[in-house]
This record gives sequence, C-alpha cells and structure tokens, in this order.
Amino acid sequence: MGKIKKIGVLTSGGDAPGMNAAIRAVTRTAIYNGLEVIGIRHGYLGMVNANFKPLYSYTVSDTIQRGGTFLKTARCEAFRTPEGRKTAYENLRAAEIDGVVVIGGDGSFKGASIFNEEYNIPFVGVPGTIDNDIFGTDYTIGYDTALNTVVEAVDKIRDTASAMNRMFFVEVMGAEAGHIALYSGIASGAEAILMPEIRGEARDIVKIIETGNTRKKSSNIIIVAEGDEEGGALAIAEKYKPQLEGYDVRVVILGHLQRGGSPSALDRVNASRLGNAAVEALLDGQQSVMVGLQNNEIVLIPFRKAVKQHKGLNQHIVDIIDILNV
Ligand code: F6P
Repeated sequence: MGKIKKIGVLTSGGDAPGMNAAIRAVTRTAIYNGLEVIGIRHGYLGMVNANFKPLYSYTVSDTIQRGGTFLKTARCEAFRTPEGRKTAYENLRAAEIDGVVVIGGDGSFKGASIFNEEYNIPFVGVPGTIDNDIFGTDYTIGYDTALNTVVEAVDKIRDTASAMNRMFFVEVMGAEAGHIALYSGIASGAEAILMPEIRGEARDIVKIIETGNTRKKSSNIIIVAEGDEEGGALAIAEKYKPQLEGYDVRVVILGHLQRGGSPSALDRVNASRLGNAAVEALLDGQQSVMVGLQNNEIVLIPFRKAVKQHKGLNQHIVDIIDILNV
C-alpha cells in the first residue's frame, strides 16, 4: 500500500449522538494532513452503491452539536456477502480511496475485519454506539448522551411514581449488554436493576422491593436492560405481578428516544479525539484496528479482538447497587 492521499469515512449500524463530531474530526484531521476526504453515505451500503460525496472543512461546520449522522447509516446485508465486499472494493478503487474510517459498533467492525482479510485497503474503526459494549475501549461515542437521556426520563417517571405511590418497570436499550441499565440505574437511584450479566439472588426483585418497603418508599423504579434473560420490561412485569400484589405497577419502554438528541460535551470531546486518532492511525500505516479509550488514553485494538471478546460490567459499580439501596 502506497502513501495515503484520499480517505473515506462512513457511519454504520445504529446511529449514536456524537457521530457527527467524529466525522468532523476525521474530515478536519485529514484536511490538516493534506488528504482528500470522501463521505460514504448510508454505511457500507454506500460503498456497495458508490454513494460517495467529497467532504470539505465547511461541509462539517455546524454539525458537532447535532444528533444522528449527516452521512446517514444502515445495517447492510450486501456487505456481509463476498460479492458485496468485492463490489465495495472495486468502487473504493475506482474512487481512489486508499483508507477508510468506519464509525460504528461491533457488527460494523466484523465487516471491516473480514474486508481487511480479503482486500488491502486499510480500515480503521471508531467505536460509536450508545450500548458501550465494545471490548477494548472504556467508552463508545453516544453512550454518555444516551445515559443522560435515560436519567432525565427516569427522574420524570420518579416524580409521577412518587406522587401516586407506583412501581415502574423501565426498559432501556443496550442490545445484549447491561451497561446502559447499570449506569442509568445507579444515576437515577433505581431500586433494582435487571441486566443480562447478573443472575441469581442479586436479581430477587421481590426481596429487594420488600426490604425497601420497610422504610416506607413511596415509589419503586426497576430498570430492565432490553437484553435481559427474562425478557423485556413488559414480560418481566407480567411475570412478577402475582408476587407484587398491593403494588400499582406500570411499564415504560424508553426505546429510540435514547438514540437521539444533541451530544453531551463528553461525547463531543471524545468523538473529536477518536476521529482524530483514527486518521493518525491510517497515516501511521495501521489497518484492521479500532481506536479506543482506556483510562482516558488513546489505544489501538485489533478488530479481531474487539469483536470476539466480551466486555464485562464494571464490577465496583455492580457491587454498590445493593449498598446504595439499604
Ligand atoms: O446498538 C444500538 C441499538 O440502539 C441497541 O441498543 C438496540 O438494541 C438496537 O440498536 C436497536 O436497533 P434498531 O434501531 O435497528 O431497532
């Protein structure tokens, strides 16, 4: 592979607040280094369809504060096939793109990893997903904003729950992982948090609620991770209702509102750092790696590690759930 002169950038998978800030950082770092930048629209689909548009410094003005992704995103079936990846390669070659920054989650990095085994156009990943479920990085773009959105919503639910002495099961996103549930549960003072990673007695919500009741709680909030083994909030509320007689139970599914909104300051800053680092990595000759943050420092993690290994919950935070609820 010769010297990099032109790079592509795309967002893939579920959008996350801060993706625009990352695209902006990629674009401006590339321009600063004398590179041309091509925006690839609708994720990998834009590679397969050659849906490209040049990006300039002014194209990314007035985007850092916007949620969603102005390049659009998609989950692309065609890129999962060898034929789709071949077409993508040919389109990249025809556009003289010598490196690609992929902003997305682990599904997007799986595709990037396979592509880099087959073709020699280097791909570098930037972790962008509200789920914060990517191994090798403490943080993913959009997680902080999503958490703040959840906490704001649960605070509001708490007001009405307390006013009417009710119990709420609140379902949050997170795919197969409980990071959003854990952090938002702690931050909103939830009485119980149900997550796929936690099994056994720690999940005995009837016991937890009864214990809390002895100090006359006027409301109960149970955060449920959407990927929980017992099902979503509706199923879990139905299951426990017979044991929770005397409680007035309601269910709220927060859904996609967790994905929208203006990114928090932390998401903007981290997206800017990670976008910058991704271009630096391409210029350094890296490929098939994700840039991440560990202890607030930039690190490079091979895609094959990032996509294979499971990122566990922060054990200290898990340990204090019960302590904070005595
Ligand atoms: O990965 C981000 C995420 O929002 C998950 O939390 C959720 O499970 C999924 O995407 C929802 O996907 P879709 O928008 O395709 O319904």
